[in-house]
Amino acid sequence: MRWETQRLEKAKQIIKMYPQKRSALGPLLYLAQDKDGYISNESIVEISSLVGITEVQVQSVASFYSMYKQEPTGKYLLSVCKSISCEISNSSEVIESVKEFTGLSNNETDDQNLFTYESVECIGACGGAPAVQVNYETIEGLTPDKAIDLCSWLKETEPKVIVADELQEKFGGVKSFDWAIEDNTGTSSPVPGFQTYDTLKEKK
Ligand code: FES
Repeated sequence: MRWETQRLEKAKQIIKMYPQKRSALGPLLYLAQDKDGYISNESIVEISSLVGITEVQVQSVASFYSMYKQEPTGKYLLSVCKSISCEISNSSEVIESVKEFTGLSNNETDDQNLFTYESVECIGACGGAPAVQVNYETIEGLTPDKAIDLCSWLKETEPKVIVADELQEKFGGVKSFDWAIEDNTGTSSPVPGFQTYDTLKEKK
């Protein structure tokens, strides 16, 4: 199935911003994921035709970067950092808590499509280690017990929008510094313009 008109229009606007069409590959992949929650085969075909490179070339970029998902994720993507600063701050126990609560191994999604769990490399919050993200919203200073509380709260309340500040206040500990930048959707995001995908749509 081809992309719908609105998404195609957006794609064409993005392509116009670059001197060469193929330079728009990254933003177009993000556009695909923002709509579908992952990079579907249809999107690979569509992007290939939009920017004039082969489907294999599109797929090779999409599969290289771990934040482009190859399959649909659950409603809440739990990304637990396993890199060195978090590792020496007890992230392995936070990981065990999340895995125990969800019953998931790395990159698995539960049958209800509620949680996807993944262990990830550094997410740029080393000063507040151990750090976890829910739908790419960061929480710092989590303990193993607080990780369980976080998962329970998500399961019980199923919030439509994930807000980093709210999760930090409820479940986080010491923060590295106040780096979050408000965006125009009411959430905050570590990188301007890189907004929570999927959950935001229900708010609009
Ligand atoms: S090492 Fe975990 S956020 Fe950097």
